[in-house]
Amino acid sequence: MEIRFDHQTVIVTGAAAGVGKGISQGFLEAGAKVLLVDYNEKLLGDTHRELAGKFAGNVAMFTADLRQAAVAGSRIVAFANEKFGPVNVLVNNAGIYPSKLALEISETDWDMLFDLNVKGYFFMAQAAAQNMIDNDIKGSIVNISSTASITARPGVVHYCSSKAAVKMMTQVLALEWAQFGIRVNAVGPGLIETEALLDSLDTDTAKQEHREKIAMCPLNRVGLPSEIAESVVFLASSHAAFVTGQNLLADGGYTAGRVFKSILK
Ligand SMILES: NC(=O)c1ccc[n+]([C@@H]2O[C@H](COP(=O)([O-])OP(=O)(O)OC[C@H]3O[C@@H](n4cnc5c(N)ncnc54)[C@H](O)[C@@H]3O)[C@@H](O)[C@H]2O)c1
Repeated sequence: MEIRFDHQTVIVTGAAAGVGKGISQGFLEAGAKVLLVDYNEKLLGDTHRELAGKFAGNVAMFTADLRQAAVAGSRIVAFANEKFGPVNVLVNNAGIYPSKLALEISETDWDMLFDLNVKGYFFMAQAAAQNMIDNDIKGSIVNISSTASITARPGVVHYCSSKAAVKMMTQVLALEWAQFGIRVNAVGPGLIETEALLDSLDTDTAKQEHREKIAMCPLNRVGLPSEIAESVVFLASSHAAFVTGQNLLADGGYTAGRVFKSILK
């Protein structure tokens, strides 16, 4: 069962690096035309150049701060529409995850995170869905959530709250837009090996913390952006035609339960 997206238009946000870059590559390998969206102009240019080298003609870029998606969303969708044709798939991926204890979080910290992780996702979804409806496209939206959408973690109350909101947003939009044939799902990654993660492992404490996190994952490893891409491509494809409103946790078993190593033989 090969999944193909030939002649289909896909928008990926936060596409310049990490998970978003992996997802973009996954869709390009499946034959899609992909619009990479990011606010980091330099990184986006580099990623665009790299991917255009392999997938010339099928990749374009758009620079935008997705905290302003209520305004930028319709411009991004119009650009994708003009460049490649009506939007078939939107992947809402651009998100931030700064750590701060609850007693130290300011209103600015909270708003910065929610403006991107929740408001940005919603207004991008609204703009993409409108384009799908106007063009009678039975499209698909995949929101990148996190294991934090269902499991609490100290030090990131704003992040966990935002991802729980993404999970519920996914369910409500799936119900509202099912009448148009638009499916809305989420993929919740566990710990994924991105450039940012590797860069952060620059002290002994960070390395120790990293080992502890891996030990909490039953598969005993970090995941790869390409492994998240595979879940996203599947959910966006016709192979998942009867799947909507779901939050697929691609996390090596992290949220399945606790492993008591003493019990395992
Ligand atoms: N990496 C992980 O282990 C992990 C685990 C669970 C969930 N996630 C989720 O995956 C998504 C991507 O995470 P990542 O680890 O790849 O992050 P990353 O920092 O490596 O990449 C995020 C990208 O988003 C862009 N971005 C940030 N703010 C933006 C804004 N305001 N407007 C437009 N673009 C913006 C950045 O420039 C960057 O290219 C996030 O939603 C994150 O919550 C990641």
